[in-house]
Order: sequence, then C-alpha cells, then structure tokens
Amino acid sequence: MLYFVYASLFFPTSNEKEIRAILGDHKIVARYLNLYIVRARNADVRKKAHGARFIYRILKLQSHGAVEESDYLGSVKRVLEGSRIADKRLKIECIDILSRRDNSAKDIEVFLGQSLEKKGAMVDIISPEVLCYIILFRMECYIGFMPYSQMRFVDPGRHYKQLSNGISRAEFKIMQAIDEFGIKAQKGVVLDIGAAPGGWASHLAKSGMKVIAVDKGALDYDRLSELGISACVVEDSALIKDEIKRFDIVHVRSGFGSVNPEDIPTLSLMMCDMNVSPEETSRALLMFSRRLRKGGKALATIKCTTKNIQNYVRIAVKALDGEFTVDAVKVLPSNRQEATLFAKKK
Ligand SMILES: C[S@@+](CC[C@H](N)C(=O)[O-])C[C@H]1O[C@@H](n2cnc3c(N)ncnc32)[C@H](O)[C@@H]1O
Repeated sequence: MLYFVYASLFFPTSNEKEIRAILGDHKIVARYLNLYIVRARNADVRKKAHGARFIYRILKLQSHGAVEESDYLGSVKRVLEGSRIADKRLKIECIDILSRRDNSAKDIEVFLGQSLEKKGAMVDIISPEVLCYIILFRMECYIGFMPYSQMRFVDPGRHYKQLSNGISRAEFKIMQAIDEFGIKAQKGVVLDIGAAPGGWASHLAKSGMKVIAVDKGALDYDRLSELGISACVVEDSALIKDEIKRFDIVHVRSGFGSVNPEDIPTLSLMMCDMNVSPEETSRALLMFSRRLRKGGKALATIKCTTKNIQNYVRIAVKALDGEFTVDAVKVLPSNRQEATLFAKKK
C-alpha cells in the first residue's frame, strides 16, 4: 500500500521516527522536503496517527500511474478514470509537487472535475461527500479518496491562505490550532500575549471574542479597521476593563510583565505567541492563569532554538503542570521552529 505523508517542515528526523512508529517497516518511494510517498504494509493508520506530533496527514493512495510529458492533463485524467470512483458527490483537490507544468493545481482540478462530470460522476465543491486527492509528484500521479466528514482538505498552505485576514503569517497558526484541537467558537474575553501585528487577535475578534492584546509592538490598526474590527491602545492596564466594553480589541502597549493580572477580566481563552524561551512563555501563562476560568483553554507556541523540540516541550509541560493539564502538543503545518501547546486550566 502507498501512503502520502505530509509532515512538519523543520523536524525531518522526528518526522521519520513518527512515520516508522505509525507505518512500521516502510520504504520512502519519493520525498520532497516534508512531503513523502511511502510504501508500507496496510496499517490501521487513522488510529495509530491519532496524537501524532509531527505528521499532519497520512493518507492511503488507491491508485497511481505515470504522467506523460506530451499529454500532461490527459494522462492525469486517465489515471483518475482508472480509479474506483464511488457513486458519491466528489470534491477534487490537487497537490502539485515539482511537476513544474503551466497549469496550476486549480486548473487541473477544474479540468478533471469537468471531465468526470461528462462521464456521469457527481462533482460538488459545496457539499461533497468524498474528497478525492490527487498528488502529482514529479511525473507520477497518485490518487486517493476520503470521506469529506473525515477530511476537508489536504494542503493547508492553500486552504488557510484563502481564509487569511492578511495581517501576518502567524494567522495560519491560530486557524490550524483551532481546527487541529477542535476549539469551539466561543464568546467572552481572550488574552493574547505577544500579539503584534495582530493576526491571532484579528482572527479571534472576527469570530466574536473580545481580545486583550499585549505587546510592545504595534498592531496593524489600518488593516483591523478595514476588517471592521475596532481597536484602542492603552499604556496602563488599569484601563482594560472599561475599554473592553467598547472595543473589539484593547491593545496594552507594553511587555506582559507590566500588566497587572488584577486588571484583567475573567478569561475564556488565553494565548501566547511570544518569541521567547519556553520558561518565559510558561511564566506568562502562569502569571495570568488565575484570570482564566476553570476548564478554560490556553494555546501557546513553544519556540525551539535547536532541533531538540521534545526538550523544549518538556520544559513547558513541567512548568505548567500545577495549573494546567496539557491536552496536546503538535507541530502545526505553519509552525516553523516551534510547536503549539494546547492546555486546559485545572
Ligand atoms: C511571533 S510574534 C506574534 C505574532 C502574533 N501572534 C500575530 O498573530 O500577529 C511575537 C511577538 O511577541 C512579542 N513579545 C516578545 N516578548 C514580549 C513580552 N515580554 N511581552 C509582550 N510581548 C512580547 C514581540 O514583540 C512580537 O510582536
């Protein structure tokens, strides 16, 4: 059986250890950076991949075939038509790895969708039942299918780009964390420590939360205003409780150490994306943890200055232990030298 594996970009050794843990004996048939085609015995992948730290997708490939230089689209179409296509509403997603053709992944999807429809298949990008993924890896085409209820998309680069507020690359991390950890939309107040330029803050504000953003740096106030998000800047944390009634985001323009925890209202969620050590990140979360309601969630990125990521994660988990239960740690697709930690207030 062949599998497509989409793993973290920055921790190749850990990726390969995890591939072994999930798939057992295997052979890497093709690899480009963090994307792999792997041959292995049939395994109960879904169960074993649950809780994986470095692997983002591990997908069975049902068929594959060579792509011809002289008839690129036609040959991809023939491989697809040779697959067993269920009699269900399909959405096609194409990931093009290094094939360097003139057609974008989107062009290929449209072409294949139209061709399948002509043959009587049901293509439905609004409410599909099945996701058909097509991986073009150099001159090979690999194809697989997955119930849409289990997977809505393969390529986060493309998926999250479409949803971005255009403030910072960090936005992708918060969107991926929400999806990965199943964080439900909630009302209430969120504390965002290390918030500038405001990707996370804008995302949460747009979803209806009130945001207390703490950072010495500026938020992108112009873009926030274009998005219809109101924001004010205060120097003194004593002003937060009044201003949060009137604005979507209250930006306290200082380091977190200058914010008095007593000035913070009860929080539904706490987030921290400071570019500091895991010790400092944990210190910030602990400093405000008594403002977080019981069972409230905390999200934090754990920055790593070496590849020994497990060590940095261990430091943070140990430091948080008295106040938080760490539910999960994952290197999300948009995490660079870092992992995202998801915890619950005890
Ligand atoms: C990776 S950026 C955060 C990006 C942000 N999450 C977003 O969505 O746009 C890290 C931020 O941490 C802030 N930071 C570092 N040390 C801090 C401290 N002691 N207190 C508050 N913010 C701090 C930096 O100023 C920087 O803006």
